[in-house]
Order: sequence, then C-alpha cells, then structure tokens
Amino acid sequence: YKRITTKSLVEMKNNGEKISMLTAYDYTMAKIVDSAGIDVILVGDSASNVMAGHETTLPITLDQMIYHASSVVRAITRSLVVVDLPFGSYQSDPKEALRSAIRIMKESGGHAVKMEGGKEIKESVKRILNAGIPVMGHLGLTPQSIYKFGTYTVRAKEEEEAEQLKEDAKMLEKAGCFGLVLEKVPAKLAKEVAESITIPVIGIGAGNGVDGQVLVTHDMLGMTHEFNPRFLRRYLNMYEEMTNAFKQYSKDVKSVDFPSVKEQY
Ligand code: KIV
Ligand code: NA
Repeated sequence: YKRITTKSLVEMKNNGEKISMLTAYDYTMAKIVDSAGIDVILVGDSASNVMAGHETTLPITLDQMIYHASSVVRAITRSLVVVDLPFGSYQSDPKEALRSAIRIMKESGGHAVKMEGGKEIKESVKRILNAGIPVMGHLGLTPQSIYKFGTYTVRAKEEEEAEQLKEDAKMLEKAGCFGLVLEKVPAKLAKEVAESITIPVIGIGAGNGVDGQVLVTHDMLGMTHEFNPRFLRRYLNMYEEMTNAFKQYSKDVKSVDFPSVKEQY
C-alpha cells in the first residue's frame, strides 16, 4: 500500500473520491482499521469517553493522548494518523500550543494534529503550521467547549453562528490547514463550506455533501449502546455479540466444558 499523506487527501477531494476516517486508540484496533483500507485514523480525544469512561473529553491529558497515539502508530502501514490536541494543551497561548504539538509528533510518531476552534486559535494554528506540523481544523460541535454550549445538539442552525463558521473555515484554509472536521451542523451548511474551500471537509453528522466521513469506531461497531444520535450508522452489534461470548465463556468455565482435553497440556 502507498501511504496516505495530507497531500493524498487534497488529491482525493479534487478527484471526487470520498475520504474514510475512523477513530482508534490502541494497537490492535488500529491494525484492523489500517488493513481494512481506512484512509485516516483519528486518535480522538473521544478516548476520554470511550477508553477512560469520562463524561466529557476535557479530562484526557497530553500524556494520555501520546500513549494512545504511539500505540496506534506502531500498528499502521498505510493510514494517515491524526492526533487530537486535548483540552488545555493549546488554548492558553501559541507557544504552549506549539510545544504540545511538538510533543505529539516527537513522542507518538503521529502525522498531524487536530484542534477545535476558529478565529480564537488562529495564531496557534499558524505557529504549529510554521513548524512543519500539519493541522486539521474542527468546527461546529466542538466537544471541548461543551460547558459553553450546554448541550450536544446541532450547531450553526442560526444565521450568525453559520456565518462565523463559514468565516472560520476560510480562515483555517488560508492559514494552511490540510483538512477540516465539521461536527453536527446542518447538511446544507456543511456542503456549502466544502464547496467554498479547497481543503477536504470530513463530516460527522454533517450530511453527504462533504468530502469524507468520520465515526467513532466503537460506536459504528455497536460496542457502545446508550449513544444513539441520528447520524450514527451501526455496522455491527458488538455489544450483544460480546455479551453473548462472555456469557458463554462463563457458562463453559463453570460447567468445566472449558478447557477440554484438547485445550490443555
Ligand atoms: O475525538 C473524536 O473522536 C473526534 C471525532 C468525533 C471527529 O474528534
Ligand atoms: Na475530538
């Protein structure tokens, strides 16, 4: 396989080939996602929810993100690995943002970083890009700002927020970002943004008028089952499959069906 680069993604947009992106936080999962031919692996700060069981993405630390990302990087042969800068690692000033991005690149071997926000992080984005580190933007529902929003509902339904989002997307393109995630915004707005900029727009709950899609792997596999947003398509029902396997194992242990004569030394 030829490795996917930030350049390949722009080419894919130009050729009208949609980009597939999924999350991974560990070696074993990343190996499967990479060999299935998924273009981009996101080491998302959703690890805070999915891996650590926190209610929000805010508690995960830079060290923990680096641990997850380094595990993912060891597994991949083709996918581009994008790593989320976690809450608190880039908001205070551009120098701190650059230091955090450098730590991710050096200590995990990831290929790019992703950051939430628009004009308020412009100087930090530029500083990181200046150091040669590719940056992906993230607008719309930005979960690191959940306490500002107060809810996880659709963003930019009103004119003012939609206009700001369009401006921010243009700013991120102009600054030199290689791509942009749009989360939970009206499909019409997402399509408009994707058509107005030359860098690929990857949607989650943003309709099919964008340049690619991203989902949280554990959600699309049906491992999580309390989370039921409209945008989520489940490709497996792993919660049930795994529960059945665990129950069967327990039964087999208790009945001394496992291990059998063939399964011992
Ligand atoms: O952390 C994450 O998984 C994300 C995606 C939902 C885009 O940022
Ligand atoms: Na994230």
